[in-house]
Amino acid sequence: MAFALSPETAGAYLADRGRISDPSVDAVQLGGGVSNRVVAVRSDEGTLVLKQPLPNLAVEEDWPADVSRVHNEAAATRAYESILDDAGLAATVPSVLLEDREHHVVGFERAPEHSRMWKRDLLEGTVDRRVAREVGRVLGAVHREAADDPALLAPFESKLPFDQLRIDPYHRTVARRHPDVADEVDAASERLLASDRTLVHGDYSPKNVLVEDRGTFRVWILDFEVAHRGDPSFDTAFMLNHLFIKSVYNADRREAYREAASAFFEAYDDAVTWDIETETVEELGVLMLARVDGKSPVEYVERSATKDALRRIAKRTLLEGVADLDAFAALVRAESP
Ligand SMILES: Nc1ncnc2c1ncn2[C@@H]1O[C@H](COP(=O)(O)OP(=O)(O)O)[C@@H](O)[C@H]1O
Ligand SMILES: [Mg+2]
Repeated sequence: MAFALSPETAGAYLADRGRISDPSVDAVQLGGGVSNRVVAVRSDEGTLVLKQPLPNLAVEEDWPADVSRVHNEAAATRAYESILDDAGLAATVPSVLLEDREHHVVGFERAPEHSRMWKRDLLEGTVDRRVAREVGRVLGAVHREAADDPALLAPFESKLPFDQLRIDPYHRTVARRHPDVADEVDAASERLLASDRTLVHGDYSPKNVLVEDRGTFRVWILDFEVAHRGDPSFDTAFMLNHLFIKSVYNADRREAYREAASAFFEAYDDAVTWDIETETVEELGVLMLARVDGKSPVEYVERSATKDALRRIAKRTLLEGVADLDAFAALVRAESP
């Protein structure tokens, strides 16, 4: 991969490809640059976001991943777009504007600059239930529509990105580090890898939701590189995990996060034809442990009392067979410091 995307190289890259005539642009890096370079480019001819995967994720532990995942992301973005276009929701995705298979670069429409990353709002204690409900509706609509559409699912048969970026760093790692729950974690991995029910986003978290809320209210869903045909409970659990971890971390806003979690799951549940509450709670146990002791722990949980509480909640969920979200929420309440 000879071309390396950066704010410095983006203008010449777009000019060389005839996308713009003048290579002098305003370009800034977005995001933490952990697994990808993401660069926002503004010129007289418009704005866009360029994304190129890094071959090795810049996290503390080695975490190999295939660079072609950015093309999987482009395909999944288009699939989401085709479903959301007809869904009548206050939600969208950035359109794919270019796809370069030689240098593994994809260009996206840029969300309005005033939109906010939902994670930032949540960490500041601003918990908007409208957002929780809308991201539940979006996920439900996509899971439901994709499940009945073999042509839409066909490009997503490979679980390689999911295995490399989720099963290995989260599931296999915590199974190794916590032998007392290894059987339960392995059973969850097997279930996820065996399922072919629908289109799974794979990174459905508040970090990948932008909230546009000036005049129109709309959520933007981002970051589809782990998309695959698989088990929908991975996505519901992934989102709920972030909300429940924040409820343990920020005691002052505990109830607000729990209400957001309920609003999310109820909206999801209303939109789909199946009941995945039990699988969701089981996967929630695995992911909660993974976000403390896996290869990519949540950066804001630093206190050991918080980490211990998350480990206890996760293990009791797995070992005691907690099967519904109310019981899970009660466990979170009981074990929070
Ligand atoms: N199309 C876009 N419009 C506006 N901001 C974006 C867009 N795509 C990405 N971003 C910003 O850049 C961040 C990183 O992009 P993302 O696609 O999530 O990459 P990564 O896989 O590295 O997390 C996002 O969290 C968001 O804040
Ligand atoms: Mg992201």
